[in-house]
Amino acid sequence: MIDYENLAKANSKFFEEYERDFKDTLQRGWFILGSKVEGFEYSFAEYCGIKFCIGVASGLDALMLSLHACQFQPGDEILVPSNTYIATILSILQCQLIPVLVEPDIRTYNIDPSKLEAHITSRTRAIMLVHLYGKSCDMDPIVAVAKKHDVHIIEDCAQAHGAMYKGTKVGGFGECGAFSFYPTKNLGCLGDGGAILVQTPEKAEMLRKLRNYGSAKKYYNEIVGFNSRLDEIQAGFLSVKLKHLDEINNHKRKLAQLYHEGLKSDFIKPEIHKNYYDVYHIYNIRHERRNELREHLLHNEIKTEIHYPVPPHKQRAMQGLIKGGPFPISEEIHRTTLSLPISFFHTEQDIEHVIEIANKF
Ligand SMILES: Cc1ncc(COP(=O)(O)O)c(C=O)c1O
Repeated sequence: MIDYENLAKANSKFFEEYERDFKDTLQRGWFILGSKVEGFEYSFAEYCGIKFCIGVASGLDALMLSLHACQFQPGDEILVPSNTYIATILSILQCQLIPVLVEPDIRTYNIDPSKLEAHITSRTRAIMLVHLYGKSCDMDPIVAVAKKHDVHIIEDCAQAHGAMYKGTKVGGFGECGAFSFYPTKNLGCLGDGGAILVQTPEKAEMLRKLRNYGSAKKYYNEIVGFNSRLDEIQAGFLSVKLKHLDEINNHKRKLAQLYHEGLKSDFIKPEIHKNYYDVYHIYNIRHERRNELREHLLHNEIKTEIHYPVPPHKQRAMQGLIKGGPFPISEEIHRTTLSLPISFFHTEQDIEHVIEIANKF
């Protein structure tokens, strides 16, 4: 059986380093906002080439706190892709803002820059874009539209640790870059975790207060804050894994290349373009008979996933809350997409086997 993901196997290479780091944290006896969090924040900011990193409790919190830090007013509108994971849209709703869904480009699965302007109104305050599946959005035209209309850019980088656009890592193209360290991510911890990257000391200070009860000094609360902190144990694990992130990304890129070369042309494969350094959190293909293909693979002991089976605008929780539509491109992607195995533990032989079986469909 080829699993889609197996987190024990994907992490096995790091067990000893994790154990050493965990023991170290236990012996120090300091678990919240200490030197492990600070150390990881410093290293991750440096890795991404961005000035400041603020560790928080999850990717959803990273997005929510990013919006809070921008001090938008209730009822302000935020443009967001119509085919994202629900968390992106939830962060907007949780801040009393209005999500305005914009269709993706069917070739890249990322927000279509040519469709942005048609959705901008006097209430638009930000474009919350998502570098989906590990591919950067097409940043030049997005930055141009944001500048022209004086709206912020907030990047959802939950699936794109280390991904690049024209040689620049994602996370610093706008006001805030929000990351998730959910265990399956390319840089995943062993629980929940997230981070926000920002370029100015003012934003960094504001976010440090927001994550910690609105307080910079213990028991003195300057703003209305939250409890959303990355903890020392997870930060230690993340520092261990960050040292291997390029190796993880390179491995996934190698497996993606095998799929790209080996899968027959009946399948619509992800685009490869020199402007993009993709890190393949997910390797998706599309096919008219997606469900039958998935059955065929499962019958041959190959597990797959669907990212995602239901588009956000069709989720029950979203009824009456979303502006815009219809969303035929998003629906087409959700109907036809299939994610193939591409974890750090998969070998080239595993992928050759998946290709061989898939090509028999
Ligand atoms: C695109 C995207 N945004 C946000 C999130 C939320 O991250 P978390 O699960 O850490 O809250 C995820 C996580 O799955 C995601 O894929």
